Amino acid sequence: MSPVLPQRPRRLRQSPAVRRLVAEHRLHPADLVLPVFVREGIDEPQPIEAMPGVVQHTVESLVAEARRCVDAGLGGIMLFGVPLEKDATGSGADAEDGILNVALRAVRDAVGEDLVVMADLCLDEFTDHGHCGVLDDEGRVDNDATLERYAAMGLAQARAGAHVLGLSGMMDGQVGFVREALDEAGFTDTILLAYAAKYTSALYGPFREAVQSSLVGDRATYQQDPANARESLRELELDLAEGADIVMVKPAQPHLDVIAMAAEVSPVPVAAYQISGEYAQIKAAAERGWIDGDRAVMESLMHIRRAGAQMILTYSALDVAPHL
Ligand code: PBG
Repeated sequence: MSPVLPQRPRRLRQSPAVRRLVAEHRLHPADLVLPVFVREGIDEPQPIEAMPGVVQHTVESLVAEARRCVDAGLGGIMLFGVPLEKDATGSGADAEDGILNVALRAVRDAVGEDLVVMADLCLDEFTDHGHCGVLDDEGRVDNDATLERYAAMGLAQARAGAHVLGLSGMMDGQVGFVREALDEAGFTDTILLAYAAKYTSALYGPFREAVQSSLVGDRATYQQDPANARESLRELELDLAEGADIVMVKPAQPHLDVIAMAAEVSPVPVAAYQISGEYAQIKAAAERGWIDGDRAVMESLMHIRRAGAQMILTYSALDVAPHL
């Protein structure tokens, strides 16, 4: 005799069509943002060993990549610059002919309003010591002096045509300070994406290769301690009060609890950044044949979405877009 089982959850899992119908969350190319690297002084794109499939672009190849993003229907592109020369204050960051600003102009010319063009607003790619800010006499990251540099950098990026500035440096007061500088200069429409909850992590390793970082040590005096979750709420509230238009959690998959918390309380869109090490872990295991890389990427993005991230920055954006 068969058991009486009025509740059979498996009924809703019986076929791809039924599963698709009842899926609670979906990914769409427009939710995805592709982070890209553009390097000064190269003639050909350069592979990044720790990020298989990702390259340092020339300005020309970057423009072609941006066009692919438009064709794929992506939400946006986030630019990181790799300058030829670095110095103590990161002067390449706000120079009009600095690589990031040159690339922003070229990408913006190519895509117009068909793609949201974002710029990383942080000094670490441009400083010879590799920190996200300028240093004081004792070699500590000087918060308030750094804000002046961020304001100059933000203005240069806005002038170069960036729609969105991604404030990733984790300096106190950075959102408000840059907002004020932009508004005073008339850039009231420039959108601020605040890395509200950015945790220090070993998973930034491959990124350091990508931007040829000279950092020794870590960023623990400004990026958050992974031991803390409640602290993210404070960071989030401060960034909102300072005028953040979008808030972000980073890294993504290790901090799904923080994404969920942000999604619960934030009145503005919540983004998450699947960082270089998250990407590299999947690629490395897949290269060894230990996991199915394509499935693992899809799963990881769905986890981030389900936790509550409305948009996701991922190096896999162009790879997955055709399958969504
Ligand atoms: C700061 C910045 C970093 C990343 C994005 N913006 C580096 C860091 O904080 O150490 C990391 C992104 C990644 O690892 O994919 N400019």
